[in-house]
Amino acid sequence: MSTLRDLAEEHTTLRPADIDHLHRIAGDWQLLSDLSFADLLLWVPVDGDGTFLCVAQVRPTTAPTAYLDDQVGRIVGGPEVAHLEVAHRQGRIWREGDPVWYGDVPARHEAIPVRLRTGDGESGEVVAVVGRDTNLSTARTPSQLELNYLTTADDLAQMIADGTFPPPRHPGETTSAPRVGDGLVRLDANGKVTYASPNAQSAYRRLGFASHLVGEDLAKLHRRLAGDPLEGTDAGNAVLAALRGEAPPRREIDARGATMLTRALPLMPAGVPIGALVLVRDITEVRRRDRALITKDATIREIHHRVKNNLQTVAALLRLQARRVAMPEARVALEESVRRVASIALVHETLSMSSDEAVEFDGIVDRVASAATEVAATEVTVGMRRRGSFGVLPAEIATSLVMVLNELLLNAVEHGFPPADEEAAPAPADAPRPEVVVSVHRHRKQLHVSVTDNGRGLPEQFDAERGGNLGLQIVRALVTGELRGTIELRNGTTGGTEAVLVVPLARGTTDRLTGRAGPP
Ligand SMILES: Nc1ncnc2c1ncn2[C@@H]1O[C@H](COP(=O)(O)OP(=O)(O)OP(=O)(O)O)[C@@H](O)[C@H]1O
Ligand SMILES: [Mg+2]
Repeated sequence: MSTLRDLAEEHTTLRPADIDHLHRIAGDWQLLSDLSFADLLLWVPVDGDGTFLCVAQVRPTTAPTAYLDDQVGRIVGGPEVAHLEVAHRQGRIWREGDPVWYGDVPARHEAIPVRLRTGDGESGEVVAVVGRDTNLSTARTPSQLELNYLTTADDLAQMIADGTFPPPRHPGETTSAPRVGDGLVRLDANGKVTYASPNAQSAYRRLGFASHLVGEDLAKLHRRLAGDPLEGTDAGNAVLAALRGEAPPRREIDARGATMLTRALPLMPAGVPIGALVLVRDITEVRRRDRALITKDATIREIHHRVKNNLQTVAALLRLQARRVAMPEARVALEESVRRVASIALVHETLSMSSDEAVEFDGIVDRVASAATEVAATEVTVGMRRRGSFGVLPAEIATSLVMVLNELLLNAVEHGFPPADEEAAPAPADAPRPEVVVSVHRHRKQLHVSVTDNGRGLPEQFDAERGGNLGLQIVRALVTGELRGTIELRNGTTGGTEAVLVVPLARGTTDRLTGRAGPP
């Protein structure tokens, strides 16, 4: 379906400022529709031929619609739009005339000229007409609520004709404003409540005001409720501003654990300030959900903390068992499991300290590296160095990567520099110091990591593609699976062994927990 702007540009000579004004009307006219118990249709005169085009439509939420089918895009001429023609030409609200029938629905037609005020405050030209069409099939003697709504609707209709409604928009007010059905209060020129809808009465009761609103000075009441009887509160000032004919931004009042959103609108038909309209909505539940989201972050941290504790418990149990088994091979296997579990616990520990599902990874690597050197047989002291920075990594990459690096570092220390008695000849005095270097750099959304040692190199006939025990199996599975990267194991150019790892950082998927894309 075409938009208001498309339709207006295609069929009329309205200027951009006119169309903007029509957009403002369509953005705020649910209020008028609800107060009028009527459908509103926005009609613009089609260039030169006496017909009108409907560019927007809104149905009342307080009454049955007069139109079951969509009117937008209809072009109508002749007697059916005679009332629009009068309103447009004479610039006055048209409301005389007999009911008309739409099929078997009786309706009453009214027409409100839409005037766009010029910058200097002079009343400007009529650029469009709002048709206000009431379904009369359920009409009966109106209740007090209905009478109050209709009176207020007439004031707003006059303000559309004057060009003073809708008020200018306040930036950032994108969330839905309170509606008529949420709660409506009408004030006289002195700021005293002349009418409050039952929902408005209930909303104020939740804030701690139990008596009747009628007769109250609303600005003073807002100040009292906000616990601020002397200074003007925002919500108190907003009421005063509306009484002066201004259109203040929406305000919230917090009291007794409840929150109410208020919107104050000036009522000034024919330019005379006669009071204000205050729409209110109890948004306590909305605010409670906002707060719940903030505590959710804290909960996630707490969960990481507990996962870390549980992993440490698992590691401790395995360590106990390792001490009890007699078979050396079994003991070594259990001790390795302890280290694997402990390395994952490190990631969760770091996650439990950040507010993000992302971790500063350098600290983790350094701790895993120093743990690996402690494993080495006592005679050989292996130096560990990190070159470059991993930066911040998303949790899911970090957990897998720390396990991979743990295995590679352990291998470098264990197999690169075996205990001296296994070596055929003692190392020459000028041999370089045993050292393992982890270097890392980020390149085009990829993490390039190498773990290099200057030890004795891979065994002869070692199958770098498939060879290895559990350690390298874990590495390959994690790198190609979880990390969707590549790993290459080879002899270094100047001796020793080199493991080269490339891990993509842009995963194409968003981070499950934060809903954010991975870092670039
Ligand atoms: N940096 C290295 N220097 C020399 N040899 C290495 C190096 N890394 C791996 N290797 C060789 O590859 C083999 C397989 O390594 P892998 O980690 O899969 O098993 P492992 O270390 O023997 O046992 P585990 O399953 O406990 O890790 C090692 O036994 C070793 O011979
Ligand atoms: Mg190993």
